[in-house]
Amino acid sequence: MQYLIDLELSRRNLLLSSAATFAVAGAAGKEAVAQSVGNTMTETTTISLAVNGTRHDVPVDNRTTLLDALREHLQLTGTKKGCDHGQCGACTVIVEGRRINACLTLAVMHDGDEITTIEGLGRPGDLHPMQAAFVKHDGFQCGYCTPGQICSSVAMLEEIKANVPSHVTGDLTGPVELTTAEVRERMSGNICRCGAYSNILDAISEVGGIRA
Ligand code: FES
Ligand code: FES
Repeated sequence: MQYLIDLELSRRNLLLSSAATFAVAGAAGKEAVAQSVGNTMTETTTISLAVNGTRHDVPVDNRTTLLDALREHLQLTGTKKGCDHGQCGACTVIVEGRRINACLTLAVMHDGDEITTIEGLGRPGDLHPMQAAFVKHDGFQCGYCTPGQICSSVAMLEEIKANVPSHVTGDLTGPVELTTAEVRERMSGNICRCGAYSNILDAISEVGGIRA
C-alpha cells in the first residue's frame, strides 16, 4: 500500500515538474520568436532579380513575398494575387525553370534567380504559342487566372519533356506520358473560378501535341 502511495506521489511530482518546464520553455520560446519577428520587421535587403531577361536590384522588406516584389516593386502586375495563400495558382511564375506560387515564397529567397512572368513569355503581336492557343481556344472568361494558367502550363510541358514524375501515373520511375489525365493532374493547382477548364485543356493539348 505504501508502495502505491509513493508511486502516486512521484507520478504527481513528475507531471507538475513537466508542466512547469513546459510553461517556462513555452514562455522563453515565445520571447525568442517575438524578438526575431521584431528584428526582422526592421530589416531591408537589396536583392538582385533577373526578371524577363532584365536584372533589377530591388530593396525589399525581408517579409515581402516574391509576388509583392513583382507587383509592387517592379510594377509587373500581370502576375495576379488571388488567394495569397497558395491555394489558387493565380500567382504562378517560372523561377529557374520551375513553376512556383509567388505568394508562398519570400523575395529574399530568390536573390540572383532568373524569373519569367507572363510579361516575359510574349507580347501583343509576338505571343508565346501557349498564349496564342489560349486566345484561339477561348481558354479564359474573366482572365484573372489566365497568367498563372499560362505560366504553369508552359513550365508543366517542360516538366513532362524532362520526365519529371508526378503521382498520377503511379509510376515514379518510368517515362511520363503526355495525356489529358496527366495534364489535368499537373494543372490541378491552378483554379479557374469561371470554369474554363475544358478550353484551357484544349489550348494546352494543342501546344503539347495531345490528340483528342
Ligand atoms: S495568389 Fe498565390 S496561390 Fe493564390
Ligand atoms: S477565366 Fe476567370 S477565373 Fe479563370
